[in-house]
Amino acid sequence: MSYIFQESFPNTRLRRLRAADWRRRLVRETNLSPADLILPLFIVEGEQRCEAIPTLPGVARLSIDLAAAQARAAADLGIPAVALFPAVAAHLKDATGSEALNPDNLVARAVRAIKQAAPDLGVITDVALDPYTSHGHDGLIVDGTVANDATVDVLARQAVVLARAGSDIVAPSDMMDGRVAAVRRALEQAGYADTLILSYAVKYASAFYGPFRQAVGASGRLGAEGGPTHKRSYQMDPAQGREALREAALDVAEGADLLMVKPAGTSLDIIYRVSQASAVPVLGYQVSGEYAALMAAVQAGALERRTALMESLTVIKRAGASAIFTYGALDAARILTGDA
Ligand code: PBG
Repeated sequence: MSYIFQESFPNTRLRRLRAADWRRRLVRETNLSPADLILPLFIVEGEQRCEAIPTLPGVARLSIDLAAAQARAAADLGIPAVALFPAVAAHLKDATGSEALNPDNLVARAVRAIKQAAPDLGVITDVALDPYTSHGHDGLIVDGTVANDATVDVLARQAVVLARAGSDIVAPSDMMDGRVAAVRRALEQAGYADTLILSYAVKYASAFYGPFRQAVGASGRLGAEGGPTHKRSYQMDPAQGREALREAALDVAEGADLLMVKPAGTSLDIIYRVSQASAVPVLGYQVSGEYAALMAAVQAGALERRTALMESLTVIKRAGASAIFTYGALDAARILTGDA
């Protein structure tokens, strides 16, 4: 007398494929590699400077020389690209983010140094004004709101400055409407037809960007929750799913080469839907708050670092991401290459 009555059993025993490491490896659908990872770097003025970011364990703001060395290390581990975020000195910030257009600003110098240190490494730069504005918004404030069209005009100029500095990929992360088309037109006119555009097509107004804003000093005066200048007035409501498909389709039509969905870990469904709906490569960003939460749990002894990090990245790829921005890129690449 047996309680087992399914016709398929015991013919089908799914555990057969899980019974040994070699069997699991043989059938594994998602294989993470260093080529899937992009390392974000926070850049600060100075030399031999390495400033810990209290809310982002293990991540520091680096002066250009140290950032170039870290970029070189990333390239040596097989990481294809780095993404630069400048922590701009307070005295250079103003209401219009004018330092963003300085062809010799911190990020432009960092691009040149990294290109020299690691010529085969892709360099991605952010197109957005938040590191440069005194209020910390990604755009210009006109009549009490973040003004779309005036901002788009500045972003297009900023993209050209970044391309001229040697940036391979410019990444508008601002969520203004129409900015991909404007950036594409500006690049084309300036002679940068081969510069790629990675559009942050689906960027949610997320609670998980906190440590990043501390890192670049953009926590500023971001405006009250519900107010006209809150980031929610341009970044997407996390409750929205179908709207992500409209954002993605528009950015592809406007000339985006790559699409970003962020935060990645809280948007796996969106990564899946966008990657199914579009043939453009989709990237996921494991953002600062996601990484900080993971590391805090590791430090508290609640999670094991290696397995938790690798799992969090593998599922982003399984959802459909072609590559992942993660502050754990070096760590993960070392684990993958048996270096750690
Ligand atoms: C802003 C920008 C943000 C991030 C990347 N670019 C933050 C924001 O919109 O406030 C967040 C990345 C992270 O949290 O790791 N241009």
